[in-house]
Amino acid sequence: MLKIPFVNYSLQYKNLETEIDAAMKSVLNRGDLIMRSDMEEFEKKMAEFLGVRHFISLNSGTDALIFALKAAGIGAGDEVITVSHTFVASIASIAHCGAKPVLVDVKEDFTMDMEKAEAAITSRTKAILPVHLNGRMCDMERLMEIANKHNLIIIEDAAQALGAKFNNKMAGTFGLAGCYSFYPAKILGTFGDGGGLATNDEKIAEKIKLFRDHGQKTKTEILCFGWTSRLDNLQAAVLNVKIKHLNEWLERRREIAEIYNKNLSGVTGIKLPPGPDSDKKHFDVFQNYVLRAEKRDNLFTFLKEKGVETLIKDPIAVHHHTGLGLSEFHLPFSEELAKKVISLPLYPELTDEQIEYVIGSVKDFYQNGKNI
Ligand SMILES: Cc1ncc(COP(=O)(O)O)c(C=O)c1O
Repeated sequence: MLKIPFVNYSLQYKNLETEIDAAMKSVLNRGDLIMRSDMEEFEKKMAEFLGVRHFISLNSGTDALIFALKAAGIGAGDEVITVSHTFVASIASIAHCGAKPVLVDVKEDFTMDMEKAEAAITSRTKAILPVHLNGRMCDMERLMEIANKHNLIIIEDAAQALGAKFNNKMAGTFGLAGCYSFYPAKILGTFGDGGGLATNDEKIAEKIKLFRDHGQKTKTEILCFGWTSRLDNLQAAVLNVKIKHLNEWLERRREIAEIYNKNLSGVTGIKLPPGPDSDKKHFDVFQNYVLRAEKRDNLFTFLKEKGVETLIKDPIAVHHHTGLGLSEFHLPFSEELAKKVISLPLYPELTDEQIEYVIGSVKDFYQNGKNI
């Protein structure tokens, strides 16, 4: 029996051990800890990778979302449209600004249903926050059309979509700002928390830089109230090593998704995500490979017994958590997804043997009568 973890942090470290150790030692020997050259170098690399004027690193994707909304002037009395089928941070960021999150359903591919989003616009709507979930981008062509027609701000949640593209343009570069997470399990992950924001807007960039460092323009000049939200220079040094491998990792993720799709298509009881070449507009990067599965919870247990660790994220739809005050929303498809979705392991370090084993185990459950 093989043992396949859902993510494998230590293996990724082992593969890059010499480079990472050297980078960390260099930072520690220099004593360069906060807002130093490694952080600046990382920001430059990210701006180049995304093709934007500014990339500002922060200490989480959540802060990137909150700061983007605040810098865009969103506050009390405003409504911001987003989805429930996401990590709660997308919605929390709106609430933290004092605005009202307005939730809409998603489509078959788990991304925002743009017709539902347009129908939810009211006179109080200020912004739409699309979430590029699982490494697949929303239909940005339709969304930008809606935003232009109704004069709305777009803040993109690209926390799960670094490197994904729509019409050949990077996730997070369509709206006023794009928000990214470098949480360890992300496509590009630190050894702790991290995040960042991309923008082509000078004023937004300036505000975000102030927000992350208590409003201090210089050591003697404070322009506004802010927060402590810097990406540690040590984490930036690690990211500078990892970012060299980003394109190769993205390709491997797409390759694994293709193998899963090819081998699992036709298995009764599961619905597969769109494959890497599903259409000409999307370039998906598979932060997660998410199935919709009949007898999902039994599949989870079966795979666990076979040594395959999977993830059931949000078995309760986010708007159904009573403490969040979102129970007014009725989103039938998102609610159904909460009962059906399960993520298979997908990361660049997976071997072909492991991928085959995962496929065999899923087939075993559905085809060989183990699904009782
Ligand atoms: C869709 C989505 N939005 C926002 C976030 C928040 O990012 P972070 O955990 O870095 O705050 C995450 C990541 O966990 C996410 O998956």
